[in-house]
Amino acid sequence: MATTKTDFRALFRPGIQGTRPYSPGKPIAEVQRELGLDEVIKLASNENPEGPLPEVLEAVNKALLKINRYPDASCFDLTRRLSQHLEVAPESIIFGNGSNEVIDMLIRSLVSPGENVVFSHHSFIVYAISTGVHFECGRPVPLDDQDKHDLQAMAYQVDNKTKLVIICNPNNPTGTYNTANEFDEFLERIPDDVIVAMDEAYYEYVTADDYPQTLPMLQEHPNLVILRTFSKIHSLAGLRVGYGVGHPDLIGEVHKTREPFNVNMLSQAAAIACLENWHEVAGRRQRNRERMNALAKGLTELGFTVVPSQTNFILVRCDGDAGKLTNELLHKGVIVRPMDAFGLGEGTLRISVGLSAENQACLTALKEILS
Ligand SMILES: Cc1ncc(COP(=O)(O)O)c(C=O)c1O
Repeated sequence: MATTKTDFRALFRPGIQGTRPYSPGKPIAEVQRELGLDEVIKLASNENPEGPLPEVLEAVNKALLKINRYPDASCFDLTRRLSQHLEVAPESIIFGNGSNEVIDMLIRSLVSPGENVVFSHHSFIVYAISTGVHFECGRPVPLDDQDKHDLQAMAYQVDNKTKLVIICNPNNPTGTYNTANEFDEFLERIPDDVIVAMDEAYYEYVTADDYPQTLPMLQEHPNLVILRTFSKIHSLAGLRVGYGVGHPDLIGEVHKTREPFNVNMLSQAAAIACLENWHEVAGRRQRNRERMNALAKGLTELGFTVVPSQTNFILVRCDGDAGKLTNELLHKGVIVRPMDAFGLGEGTLRISVGLSAENQACLTALKEILS
């Protein structure tokens, strides 16, 4: 590499200089390589361990034959399919390279210098990163004492410079949720010209009866945008496809910031196959819940405190240093996620629900470390 006297960091906008890149859960291959381990279990990125459906693989294989062409930039077939499934107009839908991209598009398209975005401090880290690099417009609010979004405090932070409020429900990394009543009250307090993005990446995993059903709320609250993804229960994390649903006029504006061909051909085919096989979702939800309950029970028996979760991961509190524990687990071939990057402090880690044998291996490794 050529030597240079240029301070490249100083060339970038202040928001970029002060932001750390997103740090994902370690990939299995990296841990195998670095630690010389054959067997590695990844419980770090809230993926679905069940893998894609055979129908999805078939659809992707078919689409592979056409990859010399650009994908359909408008996601025409996928949009039609989803609009039928959700019973909303096709113009209400925007797809992204993961719902991550839709979050980013919303921030970039809405916020000018001096304006702000309200979100929860201990929530999906991308909100802090995307607002950090975009005029440092983030206004994080602490969770309440039950690890839930403090909707009252968030509403209080909204001022005449607020363009967007992002709510993660259920919340990553705590797994907690806000109820329909809480959310109704919150929406009543938010001015019509502030957009409320409801990030429901774990929507399909939820079993709580009082969880808000937000799609019908779009009628009364045109400032609401709902974000969902095919990365979680549908097992398409590797293909990157998520979407936003909102008022057609609002979504039409966000489309202007969308990169051409942002959702690739294989992802579109796979997502359509998921929608055609929606009946698989209930079983996936049920099996996740059974495996999560067993994992939570095992963790509690080992002396950890677990936060009740509506997702496919569990926030775990330990007395000691979660970073050290994570590292010891890594050396035993189990990847989990310490929560210091999420601002949750030294004593917390997040464990994604794996297959039963993987969860058991994690519990056995923890037991060995503790003894
Ligand atoms: C709350 C939340 N929102 C959005 C995403 C991003 O999902 P996608 O893979 O669709 O970009 C994640 C992924 O972990 C998440 O936890």
